[in-house]
Amino acid sequence: MSITPDQERGFYDAVYSPFLDRPSEELAVNRDVMIRTLNDPKQPVYERRRLYLRILDRLLALPLNGSRILDYGCGPADWGVWMATEGAHVTVLDLSPAAVQLGLKRAAASGVADRVRGEARDASDLSCFADAEFDIIYASAAVHHTLKYQHAFEDLVRVLKPGGVLVLAETLGNNPVLNLGRRLRAKVQGEAEEQGEEIILSESEIRLLRTTFREVHTEEMHLLAMGKRLLRGRFTSKWARQCLRLLEIIDDVILYTLPFLKRYCGEIVIVAVK
Ligand SMILES: C[S@@+](CC[C@H](N)C(=O)[O-])C[C@H]1O[C@@H](n2cnc3c(N)ncnc32)[C@H](O)[C@@H]1O
Repeated sequence: MSITPDQERGFYDAVYSPFLDRPSEELAVNRDVMIRTLNDPKQPVYERRRLYLRILDRLLALPLNGSRILDYGCGPADWGVWMATEGAHVTVLDLSPAAVQLGLKRAAASGVADRVRGEARDASDLSCFADAEFDIIYASAAVHHTLKYQHAFEDLVRVLKPGGVLVLAETLGNNPVLNLGRRLRAKVQGEAEEQGEEIILSESEIRLLRTTFREVHTEEMHLLAMGKRLLRGRFTSKWARQCLRLLEIIDDVILYTLPFLKRYCGEIVIVAVK
């Protein structure tokens, strides 16, 4: 492991700190804001809109109202705070104190401060939580940062109640061509190692989930459409959006007719029942 938790914390603190100065109305979230943001080509998340819209559907299919939810590696905490606006009691947890502070500010701005608590800590040690404390654990682009630590996975499973649901949105690393492309792109664009592009979920972690959880549903997404990474930052232009849409349609046809290729997709939604 080449990156230390301190390096990772410093990197993400620098990413999230600037958002702390934003006015309340820019920090508030609810379901409409989430959907609007995901469909807005000006937002960096536009690139992952299909993945996150699928996640939104999967989360909305769960009984969020009244559930105890852990937003694991919450980052800007929009997902955790959004789930609180749906009636959940949410803990936003991140290694980065700035991320957690942002989550709490967002919760206040969204009128759900009483349903959101924050934990700034390393997710490889969840000893602050009781066994079976959560009904749902949600982690987007986060477990690939923590599974490298010994016991992180056991602790994640421990704090989920029997019958509870783990929902993951992740980058999938089974495809050697995509992996090479990712590494090259990260190098060319001078991406920091802390962004974790090279540590991604693959078949071995999915096998681990299957041996631990009662049910594991996987939805692999995007094969050729992973070319979207080359269009990063260009989605305000119509041709970039049309190009992405075309790749997505081709993918849908390929994956429908040749489902065995799904394992080579670049992104995945996982819903696992303990
Ligand atoms: C790629 S970001 C994703 C953030 C957020 N879940 C999202 O989807 O926008 C990864 C997050 O994992 C957090 N992280 C990395 N290592 C961690 C650790 N050991 N414990 C807790 N959080 C960690 C980082 O601080 C960062 O906020």
